[in-house]
Amino acid sequence: MTAETTIVTSIAELRATLDAERAAGRSVGFVPTMGYLHDGHGSLIEAAAAANDVTFVSIFVNPLQFAPGEDLEAYPRDLEADAALSVAAGAALIFAPSVEEMYPEPILTSVHVNTVSDPLEGRHRPTHFDGVSTVVSKLFAIAGPCRAYFGEKDWQQLAIVRRMASDLSFPVEVVGCPIVREPDGLAMSSRNVYLTSEERTQALVLNQALRHGIELIEAGERDPDIVERVVSAMIETQPAAEIDYVGVVDAMTLLEPAPLAGEVRLLTATRFGKARLLDNMGVVVPD
Ligand code: PAJ
Repeated sequence: MTAETTIVTSIAELRATLDAERAAGRSVGFVPTMGYLHDGHGSLIEAAAAANDVTFVSIFVNPLQFAPGEDLEAYPRDLEADAALSVAAGAALIFAPSVEEMYPEPILTSVHVNTVSDPLEGRHRPTHFDGVSTVVSKLFAIAGPCRAYFGEKDWQQLAIVRRMASDLSFPVEVVGCPIVREPDGLAMSSRNVYLTSEERTQALVLNQALRHGIELIEAGERDPDIVERVVSAMIETQPAAEIDYVGVVDAMTLLEPAPLAGEVRLLTATRFGKARLLDNMGVVVPD
């Protein structure tokens, strides 16, 4: 089977194929992406292929989740390479619809997940998560019963999608997968291609600063403000770094517990030149 023969662009054809698989008793794994795939996406596809009989990858750069002035037009695309990576990682099928196929007329419906969408990324990109929740709802409705795999790289997105699938009773089991990093610690991202080599070196501070923050908590720090201040100061040692936020929050509710307790997540979005990078790390706060 060549990579080309696996690409489906029509919703009706994808539905028919997946319905036939399920009717034959086969389970479906689903990995939603915006393409320009790297080994982080590859790990989700491998996890899906290991646990399901048929795995499909969606590749759709969703205009709804980009605000005016963001990188929708510039977002990197390479469908052929994506198809090859998907097939190599174990996908049987790629769903790559056009914008017209997904949104034949202006969409009037929007899905909003309260509370979990509000802080951090939600505060800095106020329309972003509604765009994500809406397209993921649509993709879940198209996919039907399946397991869907999301990366912890986008921790807040994962928390939102989990809650949405549960609140709206989608027949979808949401599975979270660990962050895949480059050997030097930089979290893999399609947007890393925007980094100059100097910025890329400076961006290594994110992984280091988050690790330091986690170590502080493990060593007994329970004040979220202090953890956030120390981590921010470490990131700011790099001249190109412009922090959007550093936050330490409850891993599921995304609310800030003070003092820190339970499972918490330390998250940042920081700009280096044209690239806005997300990273996060978790810890269960020792009693
Ligand atoms: P995209 O940024 O392409 O990411 C697709 C999936 O890959 C997401 O679940 C993301 O968390 C995961 N991922 C990205 N980099 C990763 C890494 N280094 N390690 C592990 N997983 C990683 O997220 C989106 O697309 C979109 O918002 C989408 C959910 C497809 C809706 O449009």
